[in-house]
Amino acid sequence: MATSSVRKEEVVGEEEKEEEEDGNADSGGSWRLIGRASELSGRPCCVLYSPLGRDRDVGLFHVRGEFFAMDARCSHSGGPLCDGDIEDTNGVLQVFCPWHDYDFNLKTGKSGSGLQQEVYEVKLQDSCVYVKHTSPLSLKPFPAVKKS
Ligand code: FES
Repeated sequence: MATSSVRKEEVVGEEEKEEEEDGNADSGGSWRLIGRASELSGRPCCVLYSPLGRDRDVGLFHVRGEFFAMDARCSHSGGPLCDGDIEDTNGVLQVFCPWHDYDFNLKTGKSGSGLQQEVYEVKLQDSCVYVKHTSPLSLKPFPAVKKS
């Protein structure tokens, strides 16, 4: 487990083993340590890269002191949701896709268009942010794998 002296690069992508052992790995993934909340809260969204490809990248949003995670690519045509505007519509936080302006509820992933964006659980523990996901996640892109 990360300690306060662990650098950000060292903790990113780690997996919290306790959760796997108690069976949560079968219910949609494992808790992935992303980094310190203080370092992740400085911008409204950052991309968490997956080694499984761009379609599995996650957007980690930070709005009004709360973190939300959803697929980074819009379920309509793949727009970059991290670049979208975030608005409060009658108490509902939504991100608007920069490509065609579809809205997505940050908590539920639902859109007024009828589309559903995949969302992921986020937790704060020991001042660190964790996202529950089936693959490792990193603030830096994974090296491309050459196909033979
Ligand atoms: S790609 Fe996002 S609304 Fe079209």
